[in-house]
Amino acid sequence: MKWDPTGYAHHAAFVAELGAPLLELLAPQPGETILDVGCGDGALTAQIAAAGCEVLGIDASPEQVAATRARGLDARALDAQLLEHQPELSRRFHGILSNAALHWMPDQAAVGRGMAYVLRPGGRCAVELGGAGNVARVRAGLFAALEQHGIDPEPRNPWTFPDRDTMAGHLEGAGFAIDMLELFPRPTQLPGDISGWFETFAGVFLDGLPDVRRQAVIASARERLSAELCSAGTWTLDYVRLRFRCHLP
Ligand code: BEZ
Repeated sequence: MKWDPTGYAHHAAFVAELGAPLLELLAPQPGETILDVGCGDGALTAQIAAAGCEVLGIDASPEQVAATRARGLDARALDAQLLEHQPELSRRFHGILSNAALHWMPDQAAVGRGMAYVLRPGGRCAVELGGAGNVARVRAGLFAALEQHGIDPEPRNPWTFPDRDTMAGHLEGAGFAIDMLELFPRPTQLPGDISGWFETFAGVFLDGLPDVRRQAVIASARERLSAELCSAGTWTLDYVRLRFRCHLP
C-alpha cells in the first residue's frame, strides 16, 4: 500500500494522539534502545526519542520512512514480517512499541517471532492494533459499495484483525510471557469527513480505479454509513483495539 504522508498528517494525526496509553505501557527509560514497528510518519517515534531513548523506526512504506527521517529520526524501510531475518538487529532492543500497524501484516505469527528475535533477554513489547470486529460497520459499508460497482473486495483486503486467543498463540509460540492482553471497543471520532479516511486508509481497495469510479465508490460507502456513524457532522468509527504488553523471560 502506498502512503501519502501529507494526507496522513491531516487525516491520521489522531492515530499517534491515541497512542499515548501505549507509551505509558512501554514506559521507555532514558538510554534504552527501542524499536518502533510500523512507525508511520514518526509522530510516536519522536516521543520515544524525546524520552531519551535511542529509537529506530521501521515501516514497509518508503514514503513514511522518509517522513520519519525528516523529523531527524533514525528509520528504515523494512516489513516487520521479515524482522526474524535481520541478523544485524538480533538482541538489539530493550523494548518495542507498535501502534496501529500490525493489522496491516497478514503473517502476525512471523511478526511475533521477529519481535522476540530483536529483543534482548528480558525485553518487552507494548503493542496496539485493530482487533476482532474492528471497523466492522465501515467494512460492511465499503464492501457493499465496492460490490455494487462490480469489485470483489476480499482479494484486495489488507486487514487482519485477530482475536485475543489467536494473538496469545502467536506471542507464546514466539517465547513471550504475556503481562496483559485486552480487546475493547474504542469508538473513534474522525477529524474530518469519512471520505478522507477512505482515501488515507482504504486506498488499496480503490487502487487502479479511474478517479470517477473511485469517487463513486467512496460516495456510495459514505451514503450507506452516514445514518449509523455520522451525527451532527462528526463521524465516529467503530474501532476495536487489541492491546497487549509482553516480555521475554
Ligand atoms: C485501525 O487503526 O484500526 C485501522 C486503521 C485504518 C484501517 C483499518 C483499521
